[in-house]
Amino acid sequence: MVYDAQDTEYLDMYGGHAVISIGHTHPRYVKRLEDQLHKLGFYSNSIEIPIQKELAQKLGKVSGKEDYQLFLCNSGAEANENALKLASFYNGKKKVIAFSKSFHGRTSLAVAVTDNPKIVAPINETDNVIFLPWADETALEEAFKNNEISSVIIEGIQGVGGIQVASESFLQKIRSLCDEYNAVFIADSVQCGYGRTGKFFSHDFAGIDADIYSMAKGMGNGFPVGGIIISPKIQPAYGMLGTTFGGNHLACAAGLAVLETMEQDNLMQNAAEIGAYLIKELKKLEQVKEVRGRGLMIGIELPEELAHARKELLNKHHIFTGEAKPNVIRLLPALNLTKAHADRFLEAFVNVLNQ
Ligand SMILES: Cc1ncc(COP(=O)(O)O)c(C=O)c1O
Repeated sequence: MVYDAQDTEYLDMYGGHAVISIGHTHPRYVKRLEDQLHKLGFYSNSIEIPIQKELAQKLGKVSGKEDYQLFLCNSGAEANENALKLASFYNGKKKVIAFSKSFHGRTSLAVAVTDNPKIVAPINETDNVIFLPWADETALEEAFKNNEISSVIIEGIQGVGGIQVASESFLQKIRSLCDEYNAVFIADSVQCGYGRTGKFFSHDFAGIDADIYSMAKGMGNGFPVGGIIISPKIQPAYGMLGTTFGGNHLACAAGLAVLETMEQDNLMQNAAEIGAYLIKELKKLEQVKEVRGRGLMIGIELPEELAHARKELLNKHHIFTGEAKPNVIRLLPALNLTKAHADRFLEAFVNVLNQ
């Protein structure tokens, strides 16, 4: 829930852009951060910081990727920036494959692999990036043939691109081509990761392991924290990646509060169950063109004549949702959304559609 200046309550089905994973002002989160602030808010990465190890271990356990190393930074763009850079350090190659409608952030490399010319400044333009059509396995095979590919970056479910789910076979194909050509598979999990889909990483549905997973958003429940986890096949040299603020004490405390809450309150299972319920109910509505997604990452595609639905939900029913152009409503709520919340949304949505 969020409240405006007049104290009106809003149901937040947008989760502050997929960031609020355990709910606004969750008591465990508030206490963890407050306790940490009384001890130490920040110290430089030039010393060992035990709470970073604690976070790395907990993340390994909850995500199931226990043999991966963790590098911490401050945002999703920065996570992808480091992933792409590390891949190039690893295999000495320069070319990156990205996909149409992808969004990976706004810093220089991250924006270069983002398929939106409007946010790419001339200084960010590079011929090192090859954009391929989504889900085109033949084009993918062809692009690898010169053996110049350093990495492939892909969201398991495109977020900004309108909630497009990558098929299991496409992700498996990327895995096998990366193995064949010693390229690095980068799983951008900034929006579709961190338990939102019912599995820790949405790429897990394909039964594959990526070489690097980038993450941010839900990781800190609003505290700015991002990171990459790196498979044992890549061994970064000491000092290859670095940051001043990344992995600071408060960010780690926020990250631990999120993972502890996810574990103790079974939030991945909740996301799977409530998400499946929402998707099933939404698919029954004949005015809706298509429902896409997994768990609590849901896209509702509407016809042009229902383009006003989001505003009606907000103004009349006090429900926040997200959007993807042109007419997709994006649901990205906290992972502890209850069935009662889901029903409140469904009831309001049906009401909007029927008017
Ligand atoms: C899939 C994906 N990758 C990367 C980013 C960039 O994250 P940030 O805004 O934290 O830099 C986003 C942000 O929306 C995203 O959705």
